[in-house]
Amino acid sequence: MTGKAVVVGLGGIGAAVANALLDQGYDKVHVISRNATSGLSSKVCHWCSDYSAPSIEAIAGAITDKPGTLERLVITNGILQGDDYRPERALTQLSGDTAAKMFQVNTTLPMLWLGAFHEALRQAVQPRVAVLSARVGSIEDNHLGGWYSYRASKAALNMMLQCASVEFARLNKSAQIVAFHPGTVDTPLSQPFQRGVPEGKLFTADFVAQRLTALLDEVATTGRLQFLDWDEKPIPF
Ligand SMILES: NC(=O)c1ccc[n+]([C@@H]2O[C@H](COP(=O)([O-])OP(=O)(O)OC[C@H]3O[C@@H](n4cnc5c(N)ncnc54)[C@H](OP(=O)(O)O)[C@@H]3O)[C@@H](O)[C@H]2O)c1
Repeated sequence: MTGKAVVVGLGGIGAAVANALLDQGYDKVHVISRNATSGLSSKVCHWCSDYSAPSIEAIAGAITDKPGTLERLVITNGILQGDDYRPERALTQLSGDTAAKMFQVNTTLPMLWLGAFHEALRQAVQPRVAVLSARVGSIEDNHLGGWYSYRASKAALNMMLQCASVEFARLNKSAQIVAFHPGTVDTPLSQPFQRGVPEGKLFTADFVAQRLTALLDEVATTGRLQFLDWDEKPIPF
């Protein structure tokens, strides 16, 4: 395939999605991450970014300067737990610093990347964009509570993606954006939370990446954001 495929973030799911896109026959897959990496296929073009606004603009500009139209954009950045923060179990654990960090990485950063590819997506034919969201970002589906900042950052991401979907419905009617819930996937992000996962429900990143790339081939253009899970089932907002 001569079109361009771009993956932002090279964690467990991002790396698997890059491989799945290569398996689909993309000649070149552009991947962007914070750190230099080794062992990538020669068909992967790796870009190192500090995720600052100038870096995002420069890299998106350099990728879109190359020949070929943008067919696939998959944005995978996300955090849930770090050295000095954990998902909140109670309101009293809420911290402004943690919430701000969560919103920066989970909501704002993916949207800045999407914005940087705006013109390329406007000009492309049937471009497909997937941004890694999470079922816990569904307000309707929230019966357990907790995880205030992570849930809210993904709900906010979905809202911003719906805004972008409305914008693209005017600018390029063939474009479609998907907020994708991968299920529980065996990656560093889910590692501390895997104990209660029912048997058969902890997916490999490769499995989920294949589901996502197949979904992007099939998904219809609706002019609205589609919030879909790994099984292509819609999730209520
Ligand atoms: N794993 C699951 O069970 C699960 C379930 C639901 C949703 N998700 C979502 O799927 C996405 C991918 O997660 P994963 O499972 O592949 O996790 P992962 O292996 O831990 O990868 C995390 C990703 O987030 C990026 N990231 C981490 N810290 C960051 C920071 N401070 N600033 C900017 N980017 C940062 C990394 O970018 P670099 O490559 O540049 O380091 C990497 O691409 C996330 O959005 C997550 O919320 C995962």
